[in-house]
Amino acid sequence: MPLTISVAHDYICPWCWIAVSQMRRLRAEFDVEFEWRGYELYPEGMEWPPRKVHEATDRPPTPTRTQLAFAVEGLEPAKGPPGMRTFRAHQAAEYAREKGVGQEFNERLYEAYWNQGLRINDLPVLRFLANGLISDLDDFEAAIEEQRYRDRVIVYDEPAYASGVYYVPTLFIDGKAYAEQPYSVLRKAVIEALGEPEVRPVYDGLDFQGAKDRPLVFINMVTTLDGKIITGDRDEPVMDLGSKTDHATLRHLESCADAVMIGAGTMRATPKIRFDERLWRIVVSESGELDPSHAFFKAPRVILVGKGQVDRVDKVELSDWSSTLVELRERFGIQRIVCEGGSELNASLLKAGCVDEVFITQTSKLKLGKDSPTIAGGQPFSREEVESWTLVSSRQVGDEVFLRYRR
Ligand SMILES: NC(=O)c1ccc[n+]([C@@H]2O[C@H](COP(=O)([O-])OP(=O)(O)OC[C@H]3O[C@@H](n4cnc5c(N)ncnc54)[C@H](OP(=O)(O)O)[C@@H]3O)[C@@H](O)[C@H]2O)c1
Repeated sequence: MPLTISVAHDYICPWCWIAVSQMRRLRAEFDVEFEWRGYELYPEGMEWPPRKVHEATDRPPTPTRTQLAFAVEGLEPAKGPPGMRTFRAHQAAEYAREKGVGQEFNERLYEAYWNQGLRINDLPVLRFLANGLISDLDDFEAAIEEQRYRDRVIVYDEPAYASGVYYVPTLFIDGKAYAEQPYSVLRKAVIEALGEPEVRPVYDGLDFQGAKDRPLVFINMVTTLDGKIITGDRDEPVMDLGSKTDHATLRHLESCADAVMIGAGTMRATPKIRFDERLWRIVVSESGELDPSHAFFKAPRVILVGKGQVDRVDKVELSDWSSTLVELRERFGIQRIVCEGGSELNASLLKAGCVDEVFITQTSKLKLGKDSPTIAGGQPFSREEVESWTLVSSRQVGDEVFLRYRR
């Protein structure tokens, strides 16, 4: 559900022209929609200009408050014809709103007034601007002439003040009035009104294909733009490499598996490792040098593959990967394993031809270092053995690219 922001405005007000630019920025950044409320600054019976402003002629120019606001918003201080009434323009905008094109028509009115200097209260101009948006232009014109929406336009001064609008623009965000404010203030108000935006994973349900004679295995890793998988040293955790979207995607991929597997190196490097208790946790070790008090072992379903012994942890020998994976399925019913590295474990699984898919989040960070590990280390393939995988999907979110490869 978009956040609805009600905007009290009038076309001829320079602050409203600045607000239109701000509203475009808000729309691009947040799920917001605007409800335009016509306020007529200089209605019939009011004199133009409303009051005289005397200025000394010999003082050096300084930006006025409006000029400053134009500059902050990156707008040219354009000027529409001054002292113009806007009643018909508001009538036309109400008609457009009823036809579901209010937003587009208001944008056209502001552009026409501030960029082209058009007299947007004149019927021929309104008709011209409605072209392509409004299908029945005769009814549109009749509505303006018979003042069909007279009651919807609030005029200055007293009726406007009585409605709580002292200035245009006034944006009502979450019940609070914001008048002539810079973008940073509006942005903050919208963030507060919307709350912390929910971070979504990149994938939404996944269809896996892979070996039938053993559990399906997919790797998920996050890399720097130069392909490294660490930010600090090899014995340190790496949670600072990917974004919140990457972390949400990691959790989503885990939810597609019934077991998560890591190498002993990754386990040692990550003292605060956390996985859903629903998952089987598998750690692979050659040396068997494992700290039984590690957070990884604080779960009901943990399996150690390889050497070593930890109390209440199931044990599987590592002969060759195919047989080990089959044993994991036969003994524990494991059907799908997400392997989360590191480099050495990935390499041994890849070399054995026991990985069906690889998910990579490529970030825009740069690490360097000839000894910095990549997704897979181990012994290299010979030229003849080099494998070609199929790119299943690639998606960009912010500065990250989410890649999915299939063997
Ligand atoms: N960017 C990412 O997505 C990501 C993901 C995971 C990890 N990492 C980072 O990567 C680094 C760790 O990677 P790493 O390559 O050094 O370590 P690793 O692959 O996690 O672990 C290597 C260790 O796992 C055991 N092992 C692996 N394959 C084996 C096999 N076939 N047979 C028997 N034992 C096997 C051995 O344990 P023993 O030492 O007990 O013999 C080996 O020394 C850490 O810095 C971690 O933060 C990054």
